[in-house]
Amino acid sequence: MKGGTKQRYAFMQVALLAAAGWGWSLLGAETPAGPGAPDTLRCEYLRDPLGVDTPEPRFAWVLEHSQRAEKQTAYQVLVATRAELLDQNRGDQWDSGKVSSDDSTQVAYAGKALESGKDYFWKVRYWDKEDRPSEYSKRARFGTALLAPSEWKASWINGGAAKGNEFRKEFTLQGSVAHARLYIAALGYYELRVNGHRIGHKVLDPAWTTYPKRVLYSTYDVGPFLKEGANAIAVMLAGGWATQEVDGSQVYYKEPALLVQMQAALEGGKSVEIVSDATWKTIGGPVAESSVYGGEVYDARKETPGWDLARFGETGWVPAQVVDGSAGARSSEMMPPIQAVDEIVPVRMTSPAPGVYVFDMGQNMSGWARLRVEGPTGTRVTMRYSELLYDNGMINRENIRGAKSRDIYVLRGEGGEETYEARFTYHGFRYVELTGFPGTPSLDTIRGRVVHSAVDTVGSFTASTQILNDIQRVIRWSQLTNLMGLPTDCDQRDERQGWMGDAQITAEEAMMNFDMAALYTNFIRNIADAQRDDGAVPDTVPLKYGSYDADLGWQTAYPLLVKYMWEQYGDKRIIEQNEAGLKKYVEYLRRNAKDDVFVAKLGHEGDWVELEHTPHDYMSDFWYLYDVQVMAGLEKTLGHDADAQMYAKLAQNIAEAFNRTYFHPDTAQYANGTQAANAMALFLNLPPADRRDEVADNLGNNVLYAHDTHVTTGFIGVRFLMPALTATGRSDLAYDLAVQTTYPSWGYMISRGATTLWELWQEKNGPSMNSQDHIMFGSVGAWFYQALAGVNQSADSAGYRQLRIQPQAAHGLRWASGTVKTIRGKVESTWARTEDGITLKVSIPVGSEGHVTVPRSEELSGVTVEESGRVVWENGGYVAGDPGIRGAAREDNGIGFNVGSGEYNFRLRGQ
Ligand code: BGC
Repeated sequence: MKGGTKQRYAFMQVALLAAAGWGWSLLGAETPAGPGAPDTLRCEYLRDPLGVDTPEPRFAWVLEHSQRAEKQTAYQVLVATRAELLDQNRGDQWDSGKVSSDDSTQVAYAGKALESGKDYFWKVRYWDKEDRPSEYSKRARFGTALLAPSEWKASWINGGAAKGNEFRKEFTLQGSVAHARLYIAALGYYELRVNGHRIGHKVLDPAWTTYPKRVLYSTYDVGPFLKEGANAIAVMLAGGWATQEVDGSQVYYKEPALLVQMQAALEGGKSVEIVSDATWKTIGGPVAESSVYGGEVYDARKETPGWDLARFGETGWVPAQVVDGSAGARSSEMMPPIQAVDEIVPVRMTSPAPGVYVFDMGQNMSGWARLRVEGPTGTRVTMRYSELLYDNGMINRENIRGAKSRDIYVLRGEGGEETYEARFTYHGFRYVELTGFPGTPSLDTIRGRVVHSAVDTVGSFTASTQILNDIQRVIRWSQLTNLMGLPTDCDQRDERQGWMGDAQITAEEAMMNFDMAALYTNFIRNIADAQRDDGAVPDTVPLKYGSYDADLGWQTAYPLLVKYMWEQYGDKRIIEQNEAGLKKYVEYLRRNAKDDVFVAKLGHEGDWVELEHTPHDYMSDFWYLYDVQVMAGLEKTLGHDADAQMYAKLAQNIAEAFNRTYFHPDTAQYANGTQAANAMALFLNLPPADRRDEVADNLGNNVLYAHDTHVTTGFIGVRFLMPALTATGRSDLAYDLAVQTTYPSWGYMISRGATTLWELWQEKNGPSMNSQDHIMFGSVGAWFYQALAGVNQSADSAGYRQLRIQPQAAHGLRWASGTVKTIRGKVESTWARTEDGITLKVSIPVGSEGHVTVPRSEELSGVTVEESGRVVWENGGYVAGDPGIRGAAREDNGIGFNVGSGEYNFRLRGQ
C-alpha cells in the first residue's frame, strides 16, 4: 500500500518534469519512475531451458529504467528449488546477496552444487546509479540434464536383424508422478511419443555432430504425460546424417541407434528409471526408406495403430538389439531446436503434362510439403522438389545433383482424407511436383512446411530504397534456411554441409539478424571436436565433405567465431574454453609459414566464386595475419599479457612482410590490384599511412570506372569490400554497389526473381555448381546495420557496452533504420533527411553508453542540433543540460554526442 503511494508520487514527479519540457519519454501511464524490473531473463542464452548440463550456468537479463544515463551498480540473483520459495524472496539454492557489479550478462551461477534432472527457479533485481533497487523480475526457470557421465544407465539399441525402426517400452508406475525427465539421443533422428502424445516440437533431432566424438541429447519434461498404471514410450528412428553417405565417403554408422533414459519421481518419494535396453521391442514401421538427401518413403499400410499406447498387443514385435553406438561424449542440446516454424500456401498450381502437377511456393524454402489425399489403398503419390523450372513448366533438378529429394506416400486407403508430411529428411525447394495423385489436386492439396533452427529474430533493417529491403528479406530467408542445427552452405543438393568459410563470412550478419549465441556455441564446440591433433581444422564441420589443410578462409572460422561471440555477446568463457585449441591452430599456421610469410598456400578456394582472380598466396597470408591479430586480441581479453604481446609482435612481423611482398609502391596496389586484394589490405589498415588514400583511390576507381560500379570479388572479397569503401569515405559508392541491379550484383539476383541468394553472381540453371540458396553473399547484411543504419560498437567494446552510432547517410537514401535486440537490450538507429537537415532516433540500452554521430552534410552552415526539442548544439558549440548527454564535438562528418542509456531524438538543422 505504502509502496503504491510512493510509486504514484514518483510517477507524478516524472510527469511534471516531462510537462516542464525535460523531454523524458514516458512509456505509458503505468511506468514507475526509477529502475524497472529486469526482463528477458536467460540462462546459457536460452529462455527457461530444460537441459542445462554445466555446473555454473550463466545468467543474463535486460535492464529497464525510466531515466536516461542509467546503469546497474549491483544485482541480486535468487535461485530456488521451489517456485513458492522464490515468491517469498527466498533463494534456498543461491542467494547472491547484493553484488556490486555492472554485469547484467554472463553472470555465472555460484550457489550450492546443482543436481541432475531438477527444476530451478530464479529471479533477479538490480540497483541503479543512485542505489535505488528495482522490483524483482518475473520468475524464470531452468532445468538440469545429466551433469555427470556416470549417471547414464541406458544402452544404445537398434532394430537388429528385424531392421526395426519403431521402438516401444511398456512399464507400470505404482503411483502418480510428481516429476519426470526423459533424455533421448540418436545416431540419426528420432520422434518421441509417450502414451500416444508426440513429445516436444523438435524435428530432425538431435542436431548433427561428429557422432563418434559427441552426441547431443534432448531433455523433455514427460511428467504430464505419464500416469499411474501402464505406460508406454514409443520412438520412431531414422538414419539422418549418421547413415547418410556424403560425397562418396564412408558413413558414420550402417544403422541408426537410439538411447533413452527416463527418471520419474512418484508422489511419496519412490523413483523409477526406464532405460533403453534389450527389453525394448521393435518392428519395421511405415517409414520404408529415409535419407537426408533422398527423402522419405512412407507406406501408410504398414502403420501400427496403437503402438504408442500401453497395453498394445506387440504381435510381431521383437526385442531390440543392444549395440555399441557411440562411445563419444554426451552433451545436452542447448540451442534452438530445428522446428517446422511456418506453413506456406502455394501461390499457384500448374499441370505442365498429363498427371503432373507443379506447385509454386512463391518462395525458395527449406523443409518439406504436407500432402492431403484421398484414394484407393496402395496408391503411390510422389512429391519431387526443385528450386527451378524449365520453360515448359516442368521442374528442373539439374542443380541438386545426386540428391533424390523426393517423398513418396503410399495410401492407407481406408476411406477418408489422409495427410502426410515427411519426418526424417528435408529439402531445399520452391516447387513441388506431384505425380500419382488419385484424382485432380487443388491448391489445398499441398502446403509448404518451413523447417530450420528456430532462432529468434533480433534485428530489423529497413531503408527508403526498396531494393535494400528486398535484399534484406532474401538474406533473412537464405540465412534461416541454412541453419539446420549448424550453419550450412545450401539446403538442396547433395551437400548441405557446415562449410566454415560460408559460416565465418556471414556470422556478423547472422548475429545482427538472429539470436545466434547458443547455436554458435554448439558449432564452436563442433569445430573443436573436429580439430586435428596438429591444430588444423577442416573446412567442413562436422568433417564429411571437406578435408584438412583446408583453405585458411575456411579454417579461420574457428578464431573468428570465437571473436564474434566475444564482440556480440561478451562471452569470455568461450574464449577460455577454446584458448588452447586456438593456440594450437595458430601454432599450426606458424609451422606452415616460412620467414613469417606463407609460401605454400593451403587449400584451394581463395576468393571463392570470384569474377577476377586474386592470388591464393595473398589470400592465405592475409588470413594468417588476421588470425594472429585475432589471437593477440583474445589473449588480451583474457588478461594473458605475455601471450597477447607475443602474438601482437608476430602479427606486426607478418604485416611488415606482407607489405614487403604484396604492396607495389609504384602503383599503390596490393598483389594484382583486384578489388578483393586492395579491400582486404584496407580492411586491416595495412597500407603505409601516407599511401592509404592512394590504395583507396585505386579500389574506388576499380569499382567505379573499371567495372562501372560492379563487384569482381568472390564471397570472401565482398565481405571486405563494403566496409573498406565505407572506412575510406566512399559510402556512396558502396551504396551504389548495394543497390546495383545489373549483373553482377545482389539486385541482379532479385531482378531475376531470386527469393534466396544464389551461390554464384551468374544466373545458371544447368547441372553445374549453382545452388539457388546460399547464404555466403549475405555478408552485406551486416553492412546494412553497421554502415547504413549505423549500429556499431566502439573498438574495444564487447556485448554492446560501448555503442558507436554512426549512420552513413549515403546519397541515394532518404532514411534508414536498424534495430537490434542485443544481449544487453534494444539498440536502435533510425535516421531521415528533412528539408533542412536530418533527424536521428537512437536507443541505447540501460548500462550501455554511446557515442552518436549525427550526420551533417558539408554544405550546411549555421547548424543547430536539438534533442527532443531542446537545443544541444548551437553556434559551433555544445549546449549542456540535456539529460543523458555528456558532451559534444564537431567531427569530420557530423556532430558527435556522448550519451548514456535511453532514447534520443536528434534533429540537426542548418541553412
Ligand atoms: C560449397 C561452398 C563452399 C565451397 C568450398 C561448395 O561446394 O557449396 O559454399 O564454401 O564448396 O569449397
